[in-house]
Amino acid sequence: MTEPPRRVVLVGFMGSGKSTVGAHLAGRLGWAMLDMDTRIEEESGLRVGEIFRRRGEAFFREQERRLALVLGARDRLVVAAGGGAFAAPATREALRRGAATVWLRCGLETILGRIVLDGSRPLASSRETIRRLLAEREPSYRLADLTVDTLRSPAAVALEIAGCLFGGGAGQGPGGRAEE
Ligand code: S3P
Repeated sequence: MTEPPRRVVLVGFMGSGKSTVGAHLAGRLGWAMLDMDTRIEEESGLRVGEIFRRRGEAFFREQERRLALVLGARDRLVVAAGGGAFAAPATREALRRGAATVWLRCGLETILGRIVLDGSRPLASSRETIRRLLAEREPSYRLADLTVDTLRSPAAVALEIAGCLFGGGAGQGPGGRAEE
């Protein structure tokens, strides 16, 4: 029998709603939620944009890889991965171990409508860069165990993920009671 996943890892492009859907999903499952960007910011004391500017992208990718390995020891955890994490093979393999990975698929126009080009996301520098990066990364995102479309409310997306991964137990909290 296949073991149930110990973690759910949400992957996908910037603006696809990983953190928001992750919070809904964690609440529904009664699991903890971890946002990789936030954790890296807390550990380094720098915002993601500053990490890129001061230390470079390679340094940030190494932080992602290291964090992905650490997360392999955690149970009952929903992870919102940064948009580039799943595109890096070593980080992707670490994130996949013992986890169900879910691609929050989002079209280019939706992404362009959601992302603010204010420098907070250093790789979202222009519409053309976003278009190119999305095309480059889609083959990686496709390697996720499950794909869900995100043109619904975050709560509805979370409900679909919980149903697909945990079936009839999807509405159960930590004590196994069905939610309202
Ligand atoms: C990145 C996405 C960002 C953040 C960093 C790099 C990327 O995360 O990790 O700016 O390479 O796509 P979000 O997807 O949470 O915005």
